[in-house]
Amino acid sequence: MITVIGSINMDFIIQLTTFPQQGETVIGRSLQTMPGGKGANQAIAIARLGSDVTMVGCVGSDDLGRALKTQLQQEHVKSDYVTTVTGATGIANILLHDEDNRIIVVPGANEALQPAQLMAVKEVIQRSQLVVMQLEIPQQTVSYALQLCKEASVPVLLNPAPATNFDPQWLEDITYLTPNQTEFEQLFEGDLESVLAHYPNQLIVTLGNEGACYFDGAHLIHIPAYMTPVVDTTGAGDTFNGALAYALVVGQTLEEAVYFANVAASLAIGEVGAQTGMPSAKMVYARMMGLEDEFGI
Ligand code: RIB
Ligand code: NA
Repeated sequence: MITVIGSINMDFIIQLTTFPQQGETVIGRSLQTMPGGKGANQAIAIARLGSDVTMVGCVGSDDLGRALKTQLQQEHVKSDYVTTVTGATGIANILLHDEDNRIIVVPGANEALQPAQLMAVKEVIQRSQLVVMQLEIPQQTVSYALQLCKEASVPVLLNPAPATNFDPQWLEDITYLTPNQTEFEQLFEGDLESVLAHYPNQLIVTLGNEGACYFDGAHLIHIPAYMTPVVDTTGAGDTFNGALAYALVVGQTLEEAVYFANVAASLAIGEVGAQTGMPSAKMVYARMMGLEDEFGI
């Protein structure tokens, strides 16, 4: 069983042809309201692939919160520890323009995910095969979760997004750290290759359409992306992280798992919405084997 501790947002996706400049008003093309939040996205990626996953997080006492909790349950994410707190649910305002996106997150209820809530689920966390986190929740909650995992020798996959919330002291307690290139530059000094060499099999850097890389102790391993037309990259990183978690828990090697996660992410970017294109394991294997047509996918 995998436990995801993280954010749950409703995404308001505005598609537009030009981003507004300062003081400018532009007319958008469409507004779509879709479930998101890095925590929920990663939990749903894992559930779609077929693993048992528990979500720990907070939604607000509003319609958005109720809708998001129901949706998690429909996606077979265990949501007993998704707490409803007084106030507004977290939201993200996503501006989507061709292959580029710009996101503003207003955390709302996600700020209410405090260590006390983890204390109540200590047993669940410590029984997990893997705990997955991102950084859209309070820092002290991440610290406490790392401590609980350390006590019980539970491996942790931490996706440092947004990177500004990362505490370098956490590094020694993180099994897998998965920044994208921008986050990598915010977190580390020095060129990619030499930094990777310091964190063998621990630091996995995602490189967008160039795939992902890490150092295996002897060599730099670069796994190219599966090239596919892009519709919306929102949630690509979340699909990568969820799929990486899934693949590691089912016993794949790190190299296989990164490859699997790249292919899963390539399927997710074909549709608008963070969660919309997230694949089943069958879809990932079909794409890997070039059998999508045969499988009717
Ligand atoms: O990673 C994508 C997610 O970031 C979106 O779903 C949005 O809610 C923000 O949390
Ligand atoms: Na998508």
